Amino acid sequence: MINIFTRATTNKRKNNAKTTKPAKAVPAPRAEQRPDITWDAGRQTRKGSRYGLYDPAPEGAISTTRQAEVSNLAVPWSPTSYKGLLFGIDLESGWGVMHDPIFAYPHTVNNANVVVIGDIGSAKSSAGKTWGCLRPMIIGRNVIVIDKKPSDSNPEEGEYAELCRYQGGEPVTFKIGGGGSCINIFDPSISAETEEDSTTGETPPSQSMLLRAVAEEVLGRPISPREGKALRTAHRRALKDAKAQSITPTIRLVIHRMIDPAEEDSTHLEIDKTTLREWGYDVAFELERFVEEDLAGMIDNETTGDVKLKDGLTVFDVSQLPENGPALAIVMTVINTWMTNRLFKAKNRRQTHFVVEEAWHLVQTSVAKVIRRNQKVSRAIGLSNWFFFHHVSDIPAGTDAEAIIKECDTVLVYQQKKAPDARAAVDMFDLPASSYPTILNLATGTCLMKIGNEAPFEVKHLRSDVETILTDTDKALVARTTSEKEQDHGLPTA
Ligand SMILES: Nc1ncnc2c1ncn2[C@@H]1O[C@H](COP(=O)(O)OP(=O)(O)OP(=O)(O)O)[C@@H](O)[C@H]1O
Ligand SMILES: [Mg+2]
Repeated sequence: MINIFTRATTNKRKNNAKTTKPAKAVPAPRAEQRPDITWDAGRQTRKGSRYGLYDPAPEGAISTTRQAEVSNLAVPWSPTSYKGLLFGIDLESGWGVMHDPIFAYPHTVNNANVVVIGDIGSAKSSAGKTWGCLRPMIIGRNVIVIDKKPSDSNPEEGEYAELCRYQGGEPVTFKIGGGGSCINIFDPSISAETEEDSTTGETPPSQSMLLRAVAEEVLGRPISPREGKALRTAHRRALKDAKAQSITPTIRLVIHRMIDPAEEDSTHLEIDKTTLREWGYDVAFELERFVEEDLAGMIDNETTGDVKLKDGLTVFDVSQLPENGPALAIVMTVINTWMTNRLFKAKNRRQTHFVVEEAWHLVQTSVAKVIRRNQKVSRAIGLSNWFFFHHVSDIPAGTDAEAIIKECDTVLVYQQKKAPDARAAVDMFDLPASSYPTILNLATGTCLMKIGNEAPFEVKHLRSDVETILTDTDKALVARTTSEKEQDHGLPTA
């Protein structure tokens, strides 16, 4: 007699075959006990069962090989383990898809980073808000979001503002010209070591690396060796000046020291002061212009009190910053670097998700180098980076940007309606050729999920009623009153 529902490894099956009596079912660990499920029925290693090493299995029905043969059972199986957070339903097998990029490391993934790609309105943000934010918070994760897209119901704030309030918080808002929040790029949380001091790449980016990326971003080109030297010299001098005056260093002090270098510094370099000033002029003037215009009040003062690592959900709202120009990429990079440095130094840090919507602003430009360095330390600090894009063409080939995406071991590909975009996704994520027609025709809320080196599978993302309300981004198109929605869902809005 065999138990047709009992699953076991090959070895186990052999052992079971010798057993005349099926082993007694072992109860689930206390925390997981559910009266309706008998866990690990038929397992021999009870200790293993007790520690939750096996998948749950219903107690089998007793049958004979002859009977089982005629049933000709082809048993579809879930493409993922049951350990993880529910994403949705595997469309081939009908099984629930559970995956959690942090928990899956290092078993099925080599890193905890996630990339989500898809056409406009394919339901990417919906996955981010639920599976990337709300559900992980239930298991004690912190979530930090950079919210780029204005909300459809109130274009003066980002689309995560509602979710943030639902969790009892308020977004940290960045606005041009002041009146919003500020992160000082020389915040003491960000390591002050200069690139010359840095010996390894295993620490988060320092103030110096960040400053260089900001300078390159505002200039729109790499800085020359002389400009770099003038910038580093002014940075060091500004830190000393600030210490001597007991004030917090800011980028304005650096600009001042580029225009008016210290005599001591030029003597040390064996050049006159005018030469040192000339090396730094272009960088200084361009930085000055940006600090007074596009970046005014966002990175040039002391960090405001609302910028802090807190438990639960933190939303950095950058939705009011202009799409064009470097301000957006700079502010996103400063947030990312500040956060990585804070987590790196925190003693009792929680595992954290860092969710970046419209991430091409982060990876397209010279700040990508800083983001990549942040990504490299993420494993050490329990960080899972989530990047959202529309198309693979948003990611320049052969750059740091491409490396950032390729270092994501969990990939979600939503619909790509245009053939070149679908083909590019197949190439970028090493998907089988058969994925191409699937990607062209994926329905809203359905994606191809690829975890590590495993075969991709088609999955329908599921949302609870509350999640459906919170992820509805069609409010402006499909105007309905609150009471109508309550009737739809039978629930009060958040
Ligand atoms: N799991 C789902 N199943 C079916 N429909 C969904 C699902 N998730 C979201 N939708 C619908 O799709 C719409 C668009 O979702 P969402 O805003 O998440 O898309 P998006 O890909 O982030 O769009 P964009 O590129 O504009 O940011 C939502 O308003 C919602 O009505
Ligand atoms: Mg979106």
